[in-house]
Amino acid sequence: MAEKLNIVIGDRDKRYQELLPQLKALISDELNEVANLANISAALRQTFKFFWVGFYKVDSDTELVLGPFQGDIACTRIIRGSGVCGTSWQTKQTIIVPDVDKYPGHISCSVMSKSEIVVPILKSGKVRLLLDIDSNRLDDFSEIDKKYLEELAVIISNSLCD
Ligand code: SME
Repeated sequence: MAEKLNIVIGDRDKRYQELLPQLKALISDELNEVANLANISAALRQTFKFFWVGFYKVDSDTELVLGPFQGDIACTRIIRGSGVCGTSWQTKQTIIVPDVDKYPGHISCSVMSKSEIVVPILKSGKVRLLLDIDSNRLDDFSEIDKKYLEELAVIISNSLCD
């Protein structure tokens, strides 16, 4: 499919509804993980104007490494169990942080980041990637983001090689 994105006007729920099928189509013919994750990061940032959107990849039993992203430079490596990403990896759960300054152990890559959501992407029961989104607004993420980003996590998981 052509690499283009149709961004609808509307609330976040409606934007996700329009975006997810487009992302599914966008990555359906491409096997390269970096290319797909790069385009997904860009599409999420284009659609919602988030401050930072990107992926961390499980690199060993103990470390995540920075993957494709859109935004300012970020921490290259995160230890399992540390910060929001390392905790989401350990617990295999989505984490919403309404105020990053109130999250114990939050790893700050930019003072502009005020709230955050991290969604684990699993394959065969194991976390392979974390989708991390930062907003420059407090309390910017809700159960709506969680619902659609977890759907996106399944779409991404299905595209990953075993
Ligand atoms: N805040 C994250 C680190 C990654 S940056 O936000 C891009 C964390 O606490 O894991």
